Amino acid sequence: MTPLRLRADQLLSRYGYCSRSEARAWLRRGRLTLCGEPIQDPAQRLEVHQCAVDGRPVEFPDGLLVMFHKPAGFTCSHEERDGPTIYERLPLQWSSRNPPVTSIGRLDKDATGLLLLTDQGEWVHQLTSPRHKVPKLYEVDVAADLPPGLTELFASGTLHLDGEPKPCQPARLELLGPRQARLELTEGRYHQVKRMFGSQGCPVIRLHRKRIGALDLGDLEVGNWRPIQATEVGL
Ligand code: URA
Repeated sequence: MTPLRLRADQLLSRYGYCSRSEARAWLRRGRLTLCGEPIQDPAQRLEVHQCAVDGRPVEFPDGLLVMFHKPAGFTCSHEERDGPTIYERLPLQWSSRNPPVTSIGRLDKDATGLLLLTDQGEWVHQLTSPRHKVPKLYEVDVAADLPPGLTELFASGTLHLDGEPKPCQPARLELLGPRQARLELTEGRYHQVKRMFGSQGCPVIRLHRKRIGALDLGDLEVGNWRPIQATEVGL
């Protein structure tokens, strides 16, 4: 465990317990303890791993990283103007962490499946940068029969999406039925899966992400989340 020392008021606001201005009142009530001893001085520097708030260890002291089974009907945005957001389905305290918790990449409002969330900008970069080519596996239902030759076309690296100067990177398509398939992508362009199938006359009617890198959604129930180790996604 790398030592991590923060001022008491900074600690409470960094991990989303309260604002820095509210910290004094929290400390007066003895809510923050170091090795069981209440801390009163907002300026006292504390080793975070030895602290507790309301008797519980500080949550995700080394950075938050969780997997979430996104339900349909929720956006990945922090803005509420486009409808309900995934953040409403997550602990309220996470919204107040600083740096803020964000999703690593996005899923469309109607899409379901594996989403990663973190407050570590470096992890967002590593898992979304095209340079790292982290594979993502999607399950798709479409509204028309998949045309012959689609597997080869998607694998060829020649498919051009409207308005894009560069063709899509080769992608692996596995046919599961006349209107059902799995697609593995190593890049993440805007609405890429829907645009790839749509460009071939097959509008996507169900989109579910099952895997990111080696991390599989498994039997995590829809709407639930669980902490993961950075090593599980190759960080
Ligand atoms: N591609 C899409 O079209 N939508 C998603 O949500 C993810 C990938």
